[in-house]
Formats: sequence, structure tokens, C-alpha cells
Amino acid sequence: MCGIVGYVGHDNAGPILINGLKRLEYRGYDSAGIAVWQTDDDIRVTREIGKVKNLAANVSPEEEDAGTGISHTRWATHGGVTELNAHPHRSWDKQIYLAHNGVIENYETLKSMLLSEGVTFYSETDSEVLANLIAFNLASQRGKVTTKSVQKAIRASLNLVEGTYGLAIMCASVPGTLFGARKGSPLILGVGKHEMMLASDASAIRARTSEVVYLDDNQLVTLTDERFTITTSDDSEVKPEISTLHWRDDEADLAGYEHYMLKEIYEQPSAVENAFRGRLDIEEGTSKFGGLNLTRQQIRQIDRILIVACGTAWHSGLVGEYLIEKYARIPVEVEYASEFRYRNTPMEKNTLVIVISQSGETIDTLEAQREARRKGYHVIGIINNVGSTIARENDGGIFQHSGPEIGVASTKAFTSQLTILSMLALYLGRTRDLSYTDGCEMLDAFKSLPGLVSQTLELAPAIEKIAKKFAHYDDFLFLGRLELFPVALEGALKLKEISYIHAEGYPSAEMKHGPIALISEKCPSLVLAPDDETLRKNLSSIQEVRARKGKVIVVTDSNEVPASLADELVIIPKAHPCIRPILMTIPLQLISYYIAVELGRDVDKPRNLAKSVTVE
Ligand code: G6P
Repeated sequence: MCGIVGYVGHDNAGPILINGLKRLEYRGYDSAGIAVWQTDDDIRVTREIGKVKNLAANVSPEEEDAGTGISHTRWATHGGVTELNAHPHRSWDKQIYLAHNGVIENYETLKSMLLSEGVTFYSETDSEVLANLIAFNLASQRGKVTTKSVQKAIRASLNLVEGTYGLAIMCASVPGTLFGARKGSPLILGVGKHEMMLASDASAIRARTSEVVYLDDNQLVTLTDERFTITTSDDSEVKPEISTLHWRDDEADLAGYEHYMLKEIYEQPSAVENAFRGRLDIEEGTSKFGGLNLTRQQIRQIDRILIVACGTAWHSGLVGEYLIEKYARIPVEVEYASEFRYRNTPMEKNTLVIVISQSGETIDTLEAQREARRKGYHVIGIINNVGSTIARENDGGIFQHSGPEIGVASTKAFTSQLTILSMLALYLGRTRDLSYTDGCEMLDAFKSLPGLVSQTLELAPAIEKIAKKFAHYDDFLFLGRLELFPVALEGALKLKEISYIHAEGYPSAEMKHGPIALISEKCPSLVLAPDDETLRKNLSSIQEVRARKGKVIVVTDSNEVPASLADELVIIPKAHPCIRPILMTIPLQLISYYIAVELGRDVDKPRNLAKSVTVE
């Protein structure tokens, strides 16, 4: 959480930093700020509570023609949402300006030490402590302040820090130079023509350059407009590896949609196609993946799979559990990454660990991956963000190729993950008992998927009408069975996230064991009722809700649900069960979206949330 952008070059830093922050707003939007050099060699700091647009309204970037600056968009951890707590922070002696993403866990100890030395503070943040610590270490050195002495002060300070950081730093005595450092929080260097940038992710850099260097933990980078150097903790210089970004900057634009979430919902036909493109092996009746880094023999020896993820990605893992167990007959368990990290989960020798993460930066998932690898397990990732830390650290994986997902509520990344997990179930199944014919049926299903997703999206106007009728309830139940139970969980999560309506997902039959007590005319249910062996049971659950005056929205691909049984009936196209969870998800995304719009919520930036959670 929190996004940082730094710029050094010949252009005006102001607008570049503001545009970069707008791209990073998904990482937090409690406050925003910039610190830029003025022509008179003075550094000016502007900070505003709320979104980047508030900041943009209060700076006049065109007046600032100095080409160096740092900026920050905040998701508050230490200290309330106030202007004083907003970044960039400035040291008491006005030497160090710093934007920080992460948490300094031992900040209280460091602060006491600095206070006893007479250093003063103005904010409640852990980040100001770091700014002061660097300035203190700099002031302790004799002689003129130089790039070298600042590097030394930063390194000495970071050696004292426990916690995580991505940092962009300026020193008032070293104009035209930026410093960056990372540990646990992402930081990318953008290498342009006569300009360099620092940012939490590539989306903030893409408008200026496609050449980037993904920095590693414990590296310190120093940049001027023409050159950069990267050093490790023992001060030795690192030979940088420059990567090229492959997505276009306009992919991150709204393209005429009112919200990113809606745009991304409508991008799903191509997102699912990108997930399977080049991965269907028609001749062998299976799927293929180039990056698992496992031999056929190793694949055959897998006797257990552990899926680790957070949030929506955890829900896709749960769908994956049903699909892999059904088609490949390999036992699967799914754990929250945050739980896995702190418990010693018993694991079989031949366990394959799969981490799922859209951003590839979620700290709990990253640490869970590190823990599993430390123990010697082969970890593969299902990741959207190619240059992310999780993607760079694992043993192999499958990229989603969904394009940037900007809306905080995940949509296309989820259905893309479901597509990949279903193909993985096919692949693993075909190394075991799944027949060629069954494999070919699944391949046909994947090929039909983009068209079926488009057909399901045509239901949007009808769903919008339903949403308007249901927008003013305070509670909702989402019910589904088998692989649609996690889809129900995801539906409830979407509604909570963007409309702030309380919602719970349950396996349909579990309703009788507690949630039924909630049902009344004030608590509607959304029931997923697929055309399979559970249909009759689901129809009974619907009757039970109705008998207690609960309103029911039914989403089904069956023609056998009597219209009289539902208050609202949403009929989606029929499909092979291996892709049905994907199609069932779409009406749930749309209903949440339209309810949130009806309630006037900030759909793309719901309160308190951040898209990329880089603090524990
Ligand atoms: C946050 C986001 C969720 C996301 C989760 C995991 O909570 O708000 O939408 O599912 O993080 O993110 P990841 O990038 O690891 O998939």
C-alpha cells in the first residue's frame, strides 16, 4: 500500500509526478503529496488529504520548472489521515525529504533515541522517524554533504531499521539527485532519455519509458538525469538488468467507461482468451504451460497441492481446489497466505505449492512463498504482474496476461485465474486418469469461453434494473454449492468492498445451520443454481428462503427454474462445468457494480481499501 514516484530529468517534475501518482492511487488514497525543487534551489512540499485530484488542484505544476521531485499517495498505517501525516516527510533540519511505502516496525525505539538527541518531530508517522534518522546520520558526518555522504547516511540508517520500505529520497544539499531503496516493498527504476524515475510499480513510469530495472531487497539506487548506480548492503555495485515493459500506457486508461471496474468487467472476454492463448494442446487433448519448470515425472509425483493467496485470489484458489480435485484427483488445500506464514502447516514431501496474486506484491503471499521455498518446496505462481516480486522469486509459474487491473475490486484478474486453474486441472488430469475425450471436451469449453463471457455480459441492462431494486438493503446472503460456493464468497466480497453492504457467502445447504436466522423480508439472498445434480437441492433452499419472506435472486443456466420461484431470475448461457464458475461470476460482479453506482459509492476507490496490500 502507498505509492511512491520520483523523477529526475529535464522536464517539469510536477505534472509527471502527479500523473504517476494517479496511476498508483489504487495503492491508497488517504492523502497525497509532492516535494519538488524550485528554480531558486528551494524544495517545496505540498500535501493534501484525500485523493490525488485534491493535490493536483493545489499545486501549480506548470510553475515548477525544476526537474527533480518525489511524491506519495498514502494508505494510512501509523497516524491518522491528516495533512501533517501525509508524505513526503521532511527532516527537522530540512535536509532530507522522503516518501515511504511500508512500515518501520521499530520506529518508537528510533524515535526515542532521536528525541534524546534533541531532534524534533511534527507527525505521528514511522516515516518521519526515518527521514530524521537519515538526516541525523548525515549531520554526524564531518565535511561537505555529497552524494557519497548521503548514500552512507541512508545505508547506516537502513541498517538500524526493522520492517519494510520502498523509499524515494532527496537531499537539499545534493540537487538533481534522487536516492531509492527497498526492502519488502516494491520499487522500480525507470530509465528514460535524459531522465530517470522511481516508482512503486511500472504503471507510474510507462508514460515516460518502457525500460525498467526491478530493484531487489537491500539495494540502494542513486540516480541523476543521465545515470544511475545500484549498490547492495556491502556497498558493492550491481550490474543492472534492464527489462522492457510490454503493455501500452493507454491500456491503463478508462477508454470511455465511467469506471475502471466496469471497463475491466467488459475486458473479460479478452482477459480469459489471453489466459488460454497458446496453452491449448489440441492434438494431445490437454493444456500446456511453458514456465512450470517441472519435468513430466515430477508432475506425476505430485501427491498434494497447497494453494496460498489472499482476498479474491484466495477465492480463485478455492475454485481451483474443486476443479483440480475433480479433474486431476489430487488432494488440494487452500490457505490464507497470512495464516500459512505463521503456522507450521504439515506438508507431504511431494507437495506443489501454488501462490496466486494479481499484483504479485501482496506481502503475505510473498512471505508465504518465501517460507515454502525456504522449506524446499517447488512454488509456482499464477500472477498477473510480470515484473512483480513474487513472479521474480518463485520457481516457475503461469502469467495471466490480463493487462493492468486498476479498479480496487478485482474482476478480470479473478476470472482469468479461474481460467488458468481450470486449464491446470486439465493438464494435471491428463497426466493421470482424465481421458483424451474428456480433455477434448474441456478444450472445446475454453475455446468457447470468450464468446460465452460476451453473451453473459449482454445481461448487464437487466442486471442493472435488478440492482436498482436491491440497492437499499443492509444485508445480503450469497449461496452456492461445490465450486460455486467460492463464487458465492467472491460475490459477497465484491458487494461488501464497493457498496459497503454487509454480505455473507455460504454453501447453500449450510444456510440451515445458522444464517437462516438472518432471513427476513429485510435480507435478500442471491442463489447460484446450476443445471447439475444439485439443482433440486438448490430449488429446495430457495423455497426455504421464500417461506421466511426472504427475497431471492436466482442465477442459473437451467431452464427448469420456475420463474415464480424467484423474485428475479438471471439466466446465463449453458457451459461445461469447468468454465461455469467463470460465467456465474459475471452477474455477481455486475450486480455489485450497479448497486454501488446506485448508492453513489466511489466504485474504483472504495473506502479503507487498497489494491496492493504491501503491509502485514
Ligand atoms: C487486496 C485487494 C483484493 C485482492 C487482494 C489480493 O485485498 O483489495 O482485491 O484480491 O488484495 O491481492 P493480489 O494482488 O495478491 O491478488
